[in-house]
Amino acid sequence: ELTVHRDPADVNAVSRALRGAGRKVALVPTMGALHDGHRELIRHARLLPGSTVTAVSIFVNPLQFGANEDLTRYPRPLEADLEILREEGVELAFVPSVDDMYPPGAQTRIVPGPLADELEGAVRPGHFEGVLTIVGKLFQIVAPEIALFGEKDYQQLVMLQKMVRDLNFPLSIVGVPTVRETDGLALSSRNVYLSDEQRAAAPTLQRALKEGASVSARGPAAVLARAREVLATEPLLDVDYLELRDPELGPTPETGRARLLVAARIGTTRLIDNVPVQL
Ligand code: PAJ
Repeated sequence: ELTVHRDPADVNAVSRALRGAGRKVALVPTMGALHDGHRELIRHARLLPGSTVTAVSIFVNPLQFGANEDLTRYPRPLEADLEILREEGVELAFVPSVDDMYPPGAQTRIVPGPLADELEGAVRPGHFEGVLTIVGKLFQIVAPEIALFGEKDYQQLVMLQKMVRDLNFPLSIVGVPTVRETDGLALSSRNVYLSDEQRAAAPTLQRALKEGASVSARGPAAVLARAREVLATEPLLDVDYLELRDPELGPTPETGRARLLVAARIGTTRLIDNVPVQL
């Protein structure tokens, strides 16, 4: 049975009571417009051992949107979202208002490390400060033992893992592999913005990453060159970055585990994707 809470104090009390009754809480933070990627995070949470309660938060966080981004047109299909939570057997939904999360006068922020200015952060100043601040607040309010995030937003996952370590949040973070359409496009709430023609061009991102990863035996330069070649075949794609980093998003390693990440614009829609690479 799903219970929906709007008040932070209520959800905090419920979480404490559940913990008192010997249950663990797993939190899946989202901005709503739920799709199969979000469902996958929920399913991972539901499969956790022990008697874990799955909590999902739905909040379109103004603090992580830039002035020219899609905050006002971001989809907010709340009733459909709650129906999905019921279908997936979620017990607890937290759906706060902007005023509850940022009451007048709220000004304290969680300041990320320098990685916040690279990759996504280079194009989206202040974005990761907004993400860390809201997720830190959600962690305080819902007080979960476990929180799940998608590898789709790989830099976000890495930065949140760092935040939890650096600030001693008493919980563990679980990363979940990216869910894709059959043609390879990573599921995203922003895919609805794509026209038919743009939608047809979008899988090139994933194809470029896959083809790059497939030549990893020839080293980092070959991976990047191959991926760039594939990206160049699609004129609708405006690439913001294509980078090969170590798994913690430090500099490109010569050998071992690495991550290949891309961001591109199609029209006004920005898409991101990434894959693991073994060099
Ligand atoms: P949102 O974009 O709604 O994504 C919520 C969670 O779902 C994130 O952890 C994201 O990585 C994951 N996700 C999205 N698409 C996915 C896919 N195709 N496969 C697997 N996981 C996917 O990310 C945010 O919201 C916000 O920044 C948030 C963390 C909620 C803070 O506001």
